[in-house]
Amino acid sequence: MTPLVCLSDFECEAARILPADRAAYLFGGSGDEVSLVANRAAFDALSLLPRMGRDLAGGHTGITLFGVRYEAPIIAAPLAYQRLFHAEGEIGTARACAAFGLGYCLSTLSSTPMEAVRAAGEGAPQWFQLYAQPRVADTLALARRAEEAGFSALVITLDAPVNGLRNREMRAGFTLPPDVRAVHLDGFARAQAVEGHPVFDGLLQGAMTWAFFEQIARASRLPVLAKGVLHPQDAVLALEAGASGIIVSNHGGRALDGACPALAALPKVVEAVAGRVPVLLDSGVRRGTDILKALALGAHAVLLGRPLVAALALGGAASAAQALRLLIDELAVAMALSGIRTLEEVSRALLWQERP
Ligand SMILES: Cc1cc2nc3c(=O)[nH]c(=O)nc-3n(C[C@H](O)[C@H](O)[C@H](O)COP(=O)(O)O)c2cc1C
Repeated sequence: MTPLVCLSDFECEAARILPADRAAYLFGGSGDEVSLVANRAAFDALSLLPRMGRDLAGGHTGITLFGVRYEAPIIAAPLAYQRLFHAEGEIGTARACAAFGLGYCLSTLSSTPMEAVRAAGEGAPQWFQLYAQPRVADTLALARRAEEAGFSALVITLDAPVNGLRNREMRAGFTLPPDVRAVHLDGFARAQAVEGHPVFDGLLQGAMTWAFFEQIARASRLPVLAKGVLHPQDAVLALEAGASGIIVSNHGGRALDGACPALAALPKVVEAVAGRVPVLLDSGVRRGTDILKALALGAHAVLLGRPLVAALALGGAASAAQALRLLIDELAVAMALSGIRTLEEVSRALLWQERP
């Protein structure tokens, strides 16, 4: 096999070996995949303006977020049902992140119980992503369970109150196999079709609102992050509702097709937040240089979605760790070649041309 030397190599290889319907579930976007493609194009449209001749001794990729030290500004994005891709599932990706001192965010729709994932994290910081459930009490119970299990932040996802219409996945006929399920939802009420409109009156039962966000933030001792923000005004509403962090994201192009790339939305969100809380970004990050570009536009860290799970599919925790190693090394090389010693030095001056 040709050596896997960057994240897209892992994605190509996983797409080759996975059953077609699971590959469509992992790699597909919604609709015509306009937002999926636009996420990458937004990174490629930015150029770096490197500096030469600087003393880079003592340089490193570390950052501090919510008072916790991370080896690099890379956090595993919450991704549902990881046992679809490898028997180790969420345990595999969590182990890989812990091995490198990187953050890990576990999905509500995990196929492994959160307590087992927490144990696999070996003391590394892990966050829990919360989807609103049709019954308010179930959502609050999930948040409490995560707090008791030792997760250090809650990530409330706002951009998928209903699933996007993921046409690639539909064409491939993807359905969950009997041995993989969202284990945290056992015993919870499911959204029910009711008289009236199936989307607005049915599937949206219990959907997240800013008022509910505030209720959860007040009830929890943990920092609560708002994931899926694109509009600067929503960032302000999130702060008013008690958010301790904002994740700019278009759900990796899986929610509203045609939504702007997360990277394009980032500068205005950063401006609106005005340094009050950390701003993170996901959707399309594949290279160390992508991380530098996001940080240059004001992000404090990035989340990594599909490539990490693609690596998991190839060989469990060991392959996921290999992919993370490559990305951290890419970031270090990109920093060195840009004349950046530590990530605190990254600013818009690193960009050759700012996006309008
Ligand atoms: C297969 C798949 C499942 C996902 N499941 C969730 C989820 O359960 N909760 C969530 O907040 N985001 C979910 N996401 C979105 C990711 O957290 C993240 O926003 C996205 O993957 C980032 O884009 P990238 O894959 O281009 O890195 C999922 C994404 C994929 C590809």
